[in-house]
Amino acid sequence: MSLTSQELGQLEEEGYLFFPDRFSAEEIRVLRTAAADVYAMEREEVWRESSGVPRTAFAAHTYHEAFRRLGRHPRLLEPVEQIIGGPLYMHQFKVNAKVPFDGEIWQWHQDFGVWHRDDEMPEPRAMNIALFLDDVTAANGPLLFLPGSHRLGVIEASHDTEETSYPLWTLGRETITKIAERGGCVAPTGPAGSMLMFSSLLVHASPPNISPLDRSIVYLSLCHVDNHIRRFQRPEWIAHRDFTPVEALDDECLLELAESLPAHAAE
Ligand code: SIN
Ligand code: MN
Repeated sequence: MSLTSQELGQLEEEGYLFFPDRFSAEEIRVLRTAAADVYAMEREEVWRESSGVPRTAFAAHTYHEAFRRLGRHPRLLEPVEQIIGGPLYMHQFKVNAKVPFDGEIWQWHQDFGVWHRDDEMPEPRAMNIALFLDDVTAANGPLLFLPGSHRLGVIEASHDTEETSYPLWTLGRETITKIAERGGCVAPTGPAGSMLMFSSLLVHASPPNISPLDRSIVYLSLCHVDNHIRRFQRPEWIAHRDFTPVEALDDECLLELAESLPAHAAE
């Protein structure tokens, strides 16, 4: 399904688009079960908070069948292809847990700011598309966006290795305040199965999850193959070095896995 001219205008203006209810309850059941599987794995790709609870499962599309399929899902790939003008490769794939009570913050940052500085991605010809595996509300640590901030280019940042377990190029409070004075600050929320597409230059963050509610979100960061990273400093499972174009599977690809799940799995 192509993006409409109104959606294209909104993306250009605000830097993001929200699509409620794009994946069915059955597809979400498959993916929630898969998320529980990967969070339980003892692998270097499964990054933990300092308390030991899961934070992010990187590159889960390389070691779990459900996420392999999600990484090639046409509902996620097609809108990004339309914007970036494909072919695309997967620069990063992550399943962010943000568990009840103990899920920690993501500091204010721009993804391209990190990819450019750490990985030498040449241009912001890359885009994020996220899928909510749980209902995301004001209560359980939603993403926060500064609308329109993607039009400011790469903003000065400093390398933070202390605030959380994951090092990030983060923006200072004064900068965030100034940007928000012009464009505000929003938290796109909605039911499990919703999709959120956002520019790799959009400034974003998220608060801790002190609620008793789960908040898992999967992120695909897709980049034009000609714009692949030039520096291989970070582990391959954080900044991928396989620049092969991602080929879409068919739209039913996740439902085929639902048949093998127990009836009560991850409801
Ligand atoms: C991110 O900024 O990449 C993730 C933020 C979140 O999942 O809350
Ligand atoms: Mn980010």
